[in-house]
Amino acid sequence: MCGIVGYTGYRRAQPILLDSLKKLEYRGYDSAGIAVCGEGLELHKTKGEIAELEKTLPEIEGVVGIAHTRWATHGKPSQKNAHPFLDCKKSIALIHNGIIENYLEIKEKLIEEGHEFTSDTDTEVVVHLLEKYSEDGLEKAMLKALHDIEGSYGFVAINSKEKGTIVVARKESPLILGKGNDENFVASDIPALLKETNKIMQLHDGEVATLTPKSIKVVDLDGNEVKREWKTITWNVEDAEKGGFEHFMLKEIYETPETIHNTLLGRVSELQFAPTLHNDFSSVKMVACGTSYHAALTGKYIFEEIANISTTAELASEYRYSSRARERPLTILISQSGETADTLGASREAKLRGCPVWAITNYMGSSLAREVGERNVLYTRAGIEIGVAATKTFTAQLIALYLAALQLASQRHAKTSDQIRRMAEELRTLPRVAWGVLGKASEIRSLAKKYHKVEDAYFIGRGRNYPVSLEGALKLKEISYIHGEGYAAGELKHGPLALLSEETLVVAIAVQDHTYPKMLGNIREVNARSSPILGIGYEDDEELHRYVDDVLYVPRVSNILSPVPISIALQLFAYYVAKERGCEIDKPRHLAKTVTVE
Ligand code: M6R
Repeated sequence: MCGIVGYTGYRRAQPILLDSLKKLEYRGYDSAGIAVCGEGLELHKTKGEIAELEKTLPEIEGVVGIAHTRWATHGKPSQKNAHPFLDCKKSIALIHNGIIENYLEIKEKLIEEGHEFTSDTDTEVVVHLLEKYSEDGLEKAMLKALHDIEGSYGFVAINSKEKGTIVVARKESPLILGKGNDENFVASDIPALLKETNKIMQLHDGEVATLTPKSIKVVDLDGNEVKREWKTITWNVEDAEKGGFEHFMLKEIYETPETIHNTLLGRVSELQFAPTLHNDFSSVKMVACGTSYHAALTGKYIFEEIANISTTAELASEYRYSSRARERPLTILISQSGETADTLGASREAKLRGCPVWAITNYMGSSLAREVGERNVLYTRAGIEIGVAATKTFTAQLIALYLAALQLASQRHAKTSDQIRRMAEELRTLPRVAWGVLGKASEIRSLAKKYHKVEDAYFIGRGRNYPVSLEGALKLKEISYIHGEGYAAGELKHGPLALLSEETLVVAIAVQDHTYPKMLGNIREVNARSSPILGIGYEDDEELHRYVDDVLYVPRVSNILSPVPISIALQLFAYYVAKERGCEIDKPRHLAKTVTVE
């Protein structure tokens, strides 16, 4: 998400920091900043691009410094919310990637103790904690501060009173140390370091490191020294941006467990799953385009089951021009980018119709977030997605929808608090479930090898997995150029059966929920037409294999959560099929990541 770099050595820090920071631009950001220890501490930051920052930067002397590109999660993109942050005495500077869950509580306490805040961010509390504990030096202050903090973090801090020293800490947010000759580096991602060094060390969760030009010391949270090995890497910049994966799409699918974790962070523990809804409404309408529409349609099933409220899903391009009905449903606009023209148009239309509106988006400060008002947005916090095919952001949208449904269920008393708590707890197991699916990658690859030559594929599912079949087909067609269609399995006999032959692949999603017997019936209909069938079912399903040619097993979860593992499996399947066919995976022909035209 945010980009982090730090340098301590003998050369002027400013150009090294800016150069390294630019290598992280591909991750996306909304503001940038730099702090360098010269005579005192010099701080410069701006909303917008690094190029903007450079325009206003004087030549700063100083051989230690930190710099940051921000991807907003708490507090809008703005100069005041850009990192680094300074303590009250303006001697400590801090940058951060991650989310501090208990920052409001800490902030109140610090304000009572006399600290003054300048931003709306969660991060700023930490620089004031460092100030509060600074008596015994920056490293000890960091260790103490970490005991007060809940959440995820990659922190990098400097103190003008300890020239030459950088202190960094990590939990669930990447930090990489780089070793030079009489100079050392830190960054959130390898591309930022490659020009300067190829000797790197990944900091682990629960570790704090202190860097000076000649030394790097790593300790655990109790201050005990930890011995770690250095690695020499041979990646070029492009490999490094992809984290060693061949394509961004694959990298992003592998980021799903972390993404789920980030979408849930703070929301489950606080039992405040989504913004509180003050309006009165008796139904919900979800409006979106493309993959986000498939999330919306899955949301219909999630909301009806969890929040017991009647819900519909509509394509944004259709909704805008539909006639105005009398009812005023809660209208939820879903858009990864927050910039899709049709979805923005739909949000304006919903407001004109007098509907209460909510948004689910990945981009703080996006047009959609502004349109519905920041207070009514549930952010997916998936970080940047570079591959045109939406993958981790789709899963994050599903997670956001579960959270929103729990919020509604709690406000409408649709479930007991015990039931809500249990469901929320199960959400926390989903990162592990996602790892379970990723663990099947080589099996999925073999299936892709077997089926990659088909020219037509039908994805069928029922209930909550009907939208998942639509999404599975969309993923396959957009990156592999195979004709793919998703169908509600019960609809096969109303037309599509006519198209089935030995040459047509049918992917049948068959989880053991109340639709399972019917689904097996639909699979038999396909069998009778001799089409090869790839079934997708739960790991311990002992029946499905009897009716299909191959089965791709996913971890068993509560049925309502089944769209999560299944859609991840289908993303991997589409990826490996496209790879077998030698397609341009990250940038499929004729498609754009963000569609800002109607
Ligand atoms: O940014 P949005 O979620 O509003 O984008 C909507 C669609 O353009 C998008 O989901 C598209 O279908 C995906 N990139 C397909 O993988």
